[in-house]
Amino acid sequence: MYSEKVMDHFQHPRNVGEIENASGVGTVGNAKCGDIMRMYLDIDDNGIITDCKFKTFGCGAAVATSSMATELVKGKTIEEALKVTNKAVMEALDGLPPVKVHCSLLAEEAIHAALWDYAEKNGIKIEGLSKPKSDISEDEEEEEY
Ligand code: FES
Repeated sequence: MYSEKVMDHFQHPRNVGEIENASGVGTVGNAKCGDIMRMYLDIDDNGIITDCKFKTFGCGAAVATSSMATELVKGKTIEEALKVTNKAVMEALDGLPPVKVHCSLLAEEAIHAALWDYAEKNGIKIEGLSKPKSDISEDEEEEEY
């Protein structure tokens, strides 16, 4: 049911934890299952994401997608990090079962929420970033994969 990569990231998740005084922190929840994800980003003066950690109160697919998402955004610019969509994360994991797609949205939303927090703290606007929703359950039926 799960790819080897999903199992690997689930059993050995990368970048679990917190960053003290992080540049941006985002917390999102999925109303459908009640799972919660918190993402911490450290961003340097050049807009490069130097570190990324996450904590989740979520299922195995949420753990695996968040783990992969943190690996994908590390070392990237903010603009590049915005392209790390749940689809990109799922591709990097060699796919997820359809019923688990909503779990991958949690990681994407958490990155966006952390970037939004960073932008607010610094009084800047990030092109292409809209205010994160804390409830992502409404969108998932409309998404196509
Ligand atoms: Fe809730 Fe996976 S079942 S995030």
